[in-house]
Amino acid sequence: VTEPDLRGRHVVVSAGGTREPLDPVRFLGNRSSGKQGYALARTAAARGARVTLVSANAGLPDPAGVDVVRVGTAVQLREAVLKAAADADAVVMAAAVADFRPAVYATGKIKKRDGQDPDPIVLVRNPDILAEISADRARPGQVVVGFAAETDDVLANGRAKLARKGCDLLVVNEVGEARTFGSEENEAVVLGADGSETPVPHGPKEALADTVWDLVVRRLA
Ligand code: PMT
Repeated sequence: VTEPDLRGRHVVVSAGGTREPLDPVRFLGNRSSGKQGYALARTAAARGARVTLVSANAGLPDPAGVDVVRVGTAVQLREAVLKAAADADAVVMAAAVADFRPAVYATGKIKKRDGQDPDPIVLVRNPDILAEISADRARPGQVVVGFAAETDDVLANGRAKLARKGCDLLVVNEVGEARTFGSEENEAVVLGADGSETPVPHGPKEALADTVWDLVVRRLA
């Protein structure tokens, strides 16, 4: 039996991976399936929360009893998260957000030209949503949780990222082409701004999600 320890709370979860369009046919994207974020949304709803799920390009069915807002790009994700976060008790950023987007959007399909090298793709920085909501809490006591997807020096990079982003908790997980992305399972260490470290052994993404909510509930109390 699940404790309804999030009853009366509004939580916002982002999931999936943003796509940054180059032209009407192509985009820069990443390998996030949305499964970890959807597991967070499902488990929060099971614990009694009102849940807003901001979903970027995840081909997954809407979880029952969850408000789903669909977005494509990082800029759209920012807009949707900021709006939902205005009255939220907690925000969990599980989405894989593009740090950069193409500087120019070609309104027609980019053509290859005989005998000519392709034009380089120039990128510009996207807003850092997690850093922004951490620095500018929409309400006092709001708990902000980030994820860190790392391929090497996982814990050291995670600690540096926690300090840089200014969130309360950072879920550090290792990723690779076929690791964590798209998988039903995950393993992680949840770092706290208070110096705490909570290891979560390999298991279903729901189990990691429940550990995240346990840590959030403790901070909301
Ligand atoms: O979707 P799955 O297939 O289940 O895979 C799950 C996952 C690997 C995508 C997930 O567990 C995960 O790690 N999500 C975060 C991916 C990511 O973007 O990590 P990052 O280290 O690049 O970013 C750190 C944090 O900042 C994240 O919370 C991210 O949402 C946030 N961010 C990043 C860039 C940006 N411009 N704005 C942000 O808010």
